[in-house]
Amino acid sequence: MIPLLEVQNLSHSFEYNLFSDINLTLNPKESISIVGISGSGKSTLLHICATLLKPDSGEVKLFGKDLYKQKNRDILKLRREDVGIIFQSHYLFKGFDAYENIELATLLNGTEIDDELIEKLGISNVLKQKVGELSGGQQQRVSIARVLSKKPKIIFADEPTGNLDAKTASEVMNILFEYIEENDAALLLVTHDSDLANKTTIKCNL
Ligand SMILES: Nc1ncnc2c1ncn2[C@@H]1O[C@H](COP(=O)(O)OP(=O)(O)OP(=O)(O)O)[C@@H](O)[C@H]1O
Ligand SMILES: [Mg+2]
Repeated sequence: MIPLLEVQNLSHSFEYNLFSDINLTLNPKESISIVGISGSGKSTLLHICATLLKPDSGEVKLFGKDLYKQKNRDILKLRREDVGIIFQSHYLFKGFDAYENIELATLLNGTEIDDELIEKLGISNVLKQKVGELSGGQQQRVSIARVLSKKPKIIFADEPTGNLDAKTASEVMNILFEYIEENDAALLLVTHDSDLANKTTIKCNL
């Protein structure tokens, strides 16, 4: 079995050294949580693994292939088709309503909108509202619906439940865990919630 994600001897700095010599392996149905204080580099590590940022040194293998040795065009294709990224601040299209935001992902990927998923995320009643009129937690759930509607092979989630109450957060996390189980996918999760971090297969402390 080829791991979905393999990180070897990864190091990165901006003004100061963020992390060095990180090694991770993520197989189908597995999840990993990245924990650490604010500014420790969690989002940066997620961006590197999720095709968005080339690291200073080390290797990122996605689906068995060295990610940053591939052509830009191929990296873009991977990002569009196989990788699902739930950002710390959700990048939804503000002028569109919630439904159109989700629909866009399915149109780009040739998948179908999953009504059951939308029901489970509790956003059926806000689909016709403009994103700018939604609460932070509703926007977070719309962006999760959009990402899962793409049917990604691997999900990168940067504090996906940061804006949610405990009950909704736990429901949303169950949806993500169920998704990876049912689709042989994997999840890399950044979180400040230690109970949640303990539910993942592997824990990485920055
Ligand atoms: N593109 C960039 N250019 C320069 N510095 C950056 C860049 N992105 C992040 N940094 C710096 O790197 C450090 C780590 O940022 P990062 O966003 O990875 O932290 P984090 O662990 O996700 O923090 P938080 O828990 O607050 O989200 C910060 O000091 C940040 O200012
Ligand atoms: Mg962050």
